[in-house]
Amino acid sequence: MEKKYLIKTYGCQMNEHDSERMSYILESLGYQSTDKLEEADLIIYNTCSVRENADNKVYGHLGSLKKLKEKNKDLIIAICGCMMELKEARDIIRDKYKHVDIVFGTKNINSIPYLLDQYNYSKERIIDVEETDDIDEIQDAIRKNQTSAYINIIYGCNNFCSYCIVPYTRGRESSRSEESILKEVKKLADDGFKEITLLGQNVNSYGKDLHPCTTFSDLLNKISLIEGIERIRFISSHPKDISDDLIFTIKSNPKVCKCIHLPIQSGSKRILKEMNRKYTKDEYLEKINKIKKEILDIAITTDIIIGFPGESEDDFLDTLDVINKVKYDQAFIFKYSKRTGTKAAIMDNQISEEVKSERFQILLDRVNDICLENNSKYLNREVKVLFDEISKTDKNMMSGRTDRNKIVHVKYNKDYLGKICSVMIKEFNSFALEGEIIER
Ligand code: SAH
Ligand code: SF4
Ligand code: F3S
Repeated sequence: MEKKYLIKTYGCQMNEHDSERMSYILESLGYQSTDKLEEADLIIYNTCSVRENADNKVYGHLGSLKKLKEKNKDLIIAICGCMMELKEARDIIRDKYKHVDIVFGTKNINSIPYLLDQYNYSKERIIDVEETDDIDEIQDAIRKNQTSAYINIIYGCNNFCSYCIVPYTRGRESSRSEESILKEVKKLADDGFKEITLLGQNVNSYGKDLHPCTTFSDLLNKISLIEGIERIRFISSHPKDISDDLIFTIKSNPKVCKCIHLPIQSGSKRILKEMNRKYTKDEYLEKINKIKKEILDIAITTDIIIGFPGESEDDFLDTLDVINKVKYDQAFIFKYSKRTGTKAAIMDNQISEEVKSERFQILLDRVNDICLENNSKYLNREVKVLFDEISKTDKNMMSGRTDRNKIVHVKYNKDYLGKICSVMIKEFNSFALEGEIIER
């Protein structure tokens, strides 16, 4: 009988894509996917450590797997991802979660066949979180979405924002070779994918470490020459690294989507300095103005942290001011979460949960109002949507995105799934648009 696997993924798109790569490896070994825990012979938790609640969720779920393992002694439980790059988390797993059989790191995905063999042979717990400078150029994946695909272009981060654990979990920046990225995109185009999203903690750093060095804009332009790929997206960009060159590429290359995610984190000059973000509120706003001036109607999205140590009412008002000025199309707001090992974790003046919650709600309400106002402009307008998903909650509906990254829902029509088509917008809320396909 074929063995079954289940991967539970936490965290960002990078982890989602790592899970797609793991699926490919496991299915090559003969495993079949299942979404039922009781059926699985192998359960993998791909973890995130960016905020404390991400860690806690994993510990909660892992605890409940213990009973499953007692019932099925042959079940293999593995845990990987960013949490496992941190010694403290590995120690907790080692001491308190003895039913976990295999632990591996973010750079050891291609070792899965070997780890499984070794475990099956010895039946002893394996911990493989080896540091390696080699980057995985082998990136085969079974993708969840058959229209839009994620592609890693650069790993790691050199920025060391004072609150952030990512540089400790994903290591230093290292770019994949241009050749292997282009090969992968070509293959995706041949397989019928229409859209790709280039992934990196800071995509603007792409190519600086390659020999000969190259730029992110250059990569975008080369990818756009591949026939079949109709849309190119990318996340994330660090505001300090947005170059005129990149603004020009977004503006002039029709395949590059007119949307950009530019995390501000805070509007306060003082807090930004403490965060080690390397830009001021004014410099950020200047860049935004330039982008808006050059690229008509560009959609701008952001990440914001509230309650960073020492954040005063005035600092918070500065953040609110940026929101009012930029009028983001979407903003992900996070309560600051203390990450052991980062600089901010030992700063004085940690902010109380109460103040964080209060400020969080004020920002959220404001952001939702602005998004509603932005989306209202789409009413009775025609937009081009690439449909890539049947709704999970209502099988009669499907959804896709505009090149400005607006989510659009329409009635399910199989003829248009996987294609770009025109839609007349009839309804909207803060998060999405709804409309009707214009049949031509
Ligand atoms: N490299 C990306 C961000 C990756 S982490 C970038 O710089 O754009 C995604 C988001 O999580 C960050 O933008 C930040 O807003 C949030 N984040 C990171 N560390 C956090 C922490 N300790 N507490 C709360 N939010 C945090
Ligand atoms: Fe974290 Fe800053 Fe790097 Fe983004 S740029 S991953 S927030 S350290
Ligand atoms: Fe989380 Fe790692 Fe992504 S910490 S946000 S899964 S890079």
